[in-house]
Amino acid sequence: MSNLEMVPKGLDGVVVDKTELSRVDGTNGVLVYRGYNIDEVAQCSFEEICYLFLYGDLPNIEQLKKIDKRLKAERSLPKAVWDFVANAPKNEHPMAVLRTAVSMLSGYMLNVDDLSSDVLLRHAIALTSKVSTISAAISRARQGLFAVEPSFDLSHAANYLYMSTGEIPQDVVAKTLDMALVLHADHGFNASTFTARVVTSSLSDMVSAVTAAIGSLKGPLHGGANTAVMEMLIEIGSLENVENWVNQTLQQKRKIMGFGHRVYKTIDPRAKHLKRMSKEWGERAGNVKWFLMSEKIEDMMQSFKHLNANVDFYSASTYYAMGIEPEMFTAIFAVARTIGWTSHIIEQLVDNRIMRPEAAYAGPENKMFVPIEKRS
Ligand code: SDX
Repeated sequence: MSNLEMVPKGLDGVVVDKTELSRVDGTNGVLVYRGYNIDEVAQCSFEEICYLFLYGDLPNIEQLKKIDKRLKAERSLPKAVWDFVANAPKNEHPMAVLRTAVSMLSGYMLNVDDLSSDVLLRHAIALTSKVSTISAAISRARQGLFAVEPSFDLSHAANYLYMSTGEIPQDVVAKTLDMALVLHADHGFNASTFTARVVTSSLSDMVSAVTAAIGSLKGPLHGGANTAVMEMLIEIGSLENVENWVNQTLQQKRKIMGFGHRVYKTIDPRAKHLKRMSKEWGERAGNVKWFLMSEKIEDMMQSFKHLNANVDFYSASTYYAMGIEPEMFTAIFAVARTIGWTSHIIEQLVDNRIMRPEAAYAGPENKMFVPIEKRS
């Protein structure tokens, strides 16, 4: 065994690098995007946050117009990607279709292996825009509907909804999704972002790193939790069933999706905003059942397990009340997080060193080799 120090499993509490993009304060339940508290920037547009992450501060009106124009210009897709999404197996997980479709983009992006800063910036904007178009196309294909070409007038959030439904969304719907995208944009070295940085550390390309990050976000312990939360609420069915269901689940030592967090040991600051959105949307949709059920589960988890809701818990009932199908919730998380991933990829390359941790070998030693003809 090497005499190197073993770190906690899952890199729990291990600081592997610095970042200027976001600060997650698990003790006080604070999230900061490049110096701005999430409670302040939650009111920003997703386009403002894209500018903040890529250029280091919030934009003025002229700068916002420029990034908005660049994001819009990148919304279209190569025909091969449209066709792939339209013909993907209907039962394939949306995040698996998204992962493959994003990977295909590298064949159509100029200088995809060029890691110079201006090219990286262009690819970051292109991927942030195209992940949204691909996700909406997946949503249409799953419903057996033709894809809707992107609008070049609507905001990023409104355009996602337009491409998913074929209708220009009401302002209040677009603003809700806009805030949800802002809340999900970045979050320190979470599993998918760290995945993107590990891939980047070998000087691989941005498309490879984002594709890998999508694979990580798909997992139910990470971004896949929001879909699992809605499936849980539907399985429970009613407010009356909540107490028994939660008690049984906890007695069976099963996890309840949407709760707990590796870093937050108190309320996830994003959950506060999403809880408010879930209540507002339940009332607007004339059906507060999912919100009330969620609140009851939250109370029970805080009382019995001292666990708080994370970002995935109330986003589920909010998206559902907005008419979004649960299987698409994680893809929407990816629509938001692509700006975080690509910003971290750029940051990794500023002061890069390939990530190659040690492993403590625990297998056998000094085994006697026997040629195959003599093995029994
Ligand atoms: C996201 O990292 C990020 O920043 C991620 C994210 C982001 O923005 O990128 O915030 C987004 O991924 C949020 C998390 C979404 N995942 C879920 O909601 C899945 C359910 N949660 C758990 O799987 C868990 O809480 C994690 C994965 C979120 C955190 O896992 P940890 O830190 O490894 O905690 P753990 O599994 O070791 O649990 C510690 C204890 C255990 O009890 P004991 O075995 O010690 O008695 O808490 C219990 C766990 O059983 N526990 C839960 C629970 N989460 C933890 N019990 C019931 N239900 C849960 N959800």
